[in-house]
Amino acid sequence: MSVDPMRMPPPYRIKVVEPIPFLTAEQRQQALADAGYNPFNLRADQITVDLLSDSGTGATSAAQEAAAAVGDETYAGARSWFRFRDEVSDLTGYPFILPVHQGRAGERILFSSLLKPGQICISNTHFDTTHANVVLAGAEARDLPCPQAADLDSDEPFKGNIDLDALEEVLKGPDGKRVGLVLMTITNNGLGAQPASIANIAATSELCRRHGVPFFLDAARFAENAWLVSQREPDFRDWTPRQIATHAFGLADGCVVSLKKDGMSPVGGFIGLRDENLHTVCEANLIATEGFSTYGGLSGRDLERLAQGLREVVDPAYLSTRAASTARLAQMINDAGVDTVQPPGIHALYLNAGRLLPHLSPHEFPGHSLVCQLYLEGGIRCAELGSLYLGQMDNEHRLVTPAPFELVRLAIPRRVYTEDHFVYVAAVLAHIAKDPSRVPGHRIVSAPNLLRHFKVRLEPAPPVTGASPVAAAPVADAAADSAVDTAEPAKPQAKKGFLWSRANRKA
Ligand SMILES: Cc1ncc(COP(=O)(O)O)c(C=O)c1O
Repeated sequence: MSVDPMRMPPPYRIKVVEPIPFLTAEQRQQALADAGYNPFNLRADQITVDLLSDSGTGATSAAQEAAAAVGDETYAGARSWFRFRDEVSDLTGYPFILPVHQGRAGERILFSSLLKPGQICISNTHFDTTHANVVLAGAEARDLPCPQAADLDSDEPFKGNIDLDALEEVLKGPDGKRVGLVLMTITNNGLGAQPASIANIAATSELCRRHGVPFFLDAARFAENAWLVSQREPDFRDWTPRQIATHAFGLADGCVVSLKKDGMSPVGGFIGLRDENLHTVCEANLIATEGFSTYGGLSGRDLERLAQGLREVVDPAYLSTRAASTARLAQMINDAGVDTVQPPGIHALYLNAGRLLPHLSPHEFPGHSLVCQLYLEGGIRCAELGSLYLGQMDNEHRLVTPAPFELVRLAIPRRVYTEDHFVYVAAVLAHIAKDPSRVPGHRIVSAPNLLRHFKVRLEPAPPVTGASPVAAAPVADAAADSAVDTAEPAKPQAKKGFLWSRANRKA
């Protein structure tokens, strides 16, 4: 019998579970109001399906926990360190490995050692902490995503690529001498979880070599990028994900990696380096701020879980079923009448909230409004990637420059939710998509000047369409509706008449 590869089950079964809460509509309404309409302020026991982040939120395996049981907590030179180091060196090919407790610690150490004030760091897209750590090192973070990334609907396979022409122009131009680092994020979390091709990574590497600029990978999702390369880049069709990942690392001078994603563990990260002098500088910084260079803020048990997680994450059966599961969720959501950034990546789906809620201008934060509605109707937590997060505001927190797109990210924790949870998520979205005009906008009540999205407080804005401000169907209602919703999909949102964002104008 041959089974459709899209329908193969994941290569594991579940042995340990934890309960998830189901609140009433009134309880969710109260919880969100108490949280200042900011999902970061919600408590875990108020959330039914948590799609806020795929970072550190995955399930560990029996083999990882067994490995942790023999974790060696010796302060310096622990056995667990050598197991971790050998695994990472073997995967990446880098001679120098420094462990850190999470990705941003690695960013801080690397950038403060490598970048000088006034220099420029160029990326396909900096992740937000990466951007912040470049700025904290006194440098400028400049994003040069490929032009194809601006079309949210196209099926272009490698929208995570860097714009090679633009990069060359900067390197050859008056700013060329100021470029201190080129950093390729794989996969491109800031741009729809889209992968970068090996051809693009190799060409970037070659350009950097020609201009004498260090080239690094921000490789938090190196295995997922490798899987998408094996599926979308013909030259690598016969390669294993691990071979592709090792090849990608081999094209760079080093890397900084958050292992809270493809390390399949709640904590961890590392810096990989070829240059001994840079290693010496980073190591001194590591010892002063993270811990001795054989643990870097991690316990022996963490190091063991990570070494085993790095073996599990490159399993083609795991990667193919995770990719297929995300693609099926995207299909269910699209069938429900909600557009997602195409093609679907692996670790997250990005909903086109601007298109779903054309009655809300960026000043009313359509992405954030959809985030709130998903919680109110289904207890689903996720995050906005639109004008609330990326827009420029004045001192009174009034939006001055909207973000290019009004998106919502549904991040998918590894090995945590089943297909049934995703059917539920799609059903709640279908319920919203049946009458999106009732979703109210939001306005800011208070906000910090830095890292606004974490601590901002908002309130629903008065309805502009005369609809009731919040129509929160109880979870049970939404679940009961799901059969109807999936059988009778809402009409796809009109792609015209969208005035405020690029997504609208384009469509
Ligand atoms: C691409 C990328 N780089 C760096 C980081 C930072 O890693 P950490 O959360 O482990 O500090 C993240 C976290 O989500 C990320 O997605």
